[in-house]
Amino acid sequence: MAPNLVPQLTAAPVKTQMAPNLVPQLTAAPVKTEFPIFISGEVVRGFGRGGKDLNVPTANLPEETVNKALATIPIGIYYGWAQLETEKKEVHIIHNYEYDFYGRELKVCIAGYIRPELNFESLDQLIAAIKNDISIAENALEKEPLLSLKEHSYFV
Ligand SMILES: Cc1cc2nc3c(=O)[nH]c(=O)nc-3n(C[C@H](O)[C@H](O)[C@H](O)COP(=O)(O)O)c2cc1C
Repeated sequence: MAPNLVPQLTAAPVKTQMAPNLVPQLTAAPVKTEFPIFISGEVVRGFGRGGKDLNVPTANLPEETVNKALATIPIGIYYGWAQLETEKKEVHIIHNYEYDFYGRELKVCIAGYIRPELNFESLDQLIAAIKNDISIAENALEKEPLLSLKEHSYFV
């Protein structure tokens, strides 16, 4: 896949042959939906793969909650803002927490779409893609109009 090619939005998972330095630079959102999408729920245990193998701890919400709230949008990599329980400060969804928060309420505001979920040939490729996702998300969230979403009344 050439670096600037937007992956086709076919049903995930999609087999790809991306080298780590050829991860797509996606900025546009080819998903037809209205953002933001608000979703909240109690953090449940995932496979533990995110933290252990990828060094990207992942907060999982219950499958029913996610399926219901996100039924109309394709499986993929999205980004946005999140808030853990009543903590006053809003947190980036890619915030590094020093502790586990299973069982606590997480509010998520999905602000945009990055790419579909892909099958990578190696863990290193997946990690490279995730790092790229994180910089795309950070770039988008530090600018308006997505920056102000952090102050949305949903998070009060
Ligand atoms: C930003 C981001 C992008 C991801 N992209 C993919 C992907 O394209 N393909 C894939 O199989 N998994 C992808 N993952 C999921 C991880 O492989 C892992 O399954 C996930 O972090 C869940 O971890 P858990 O085992 O702690 O529940 C992604 C995770 C993150 C945080």
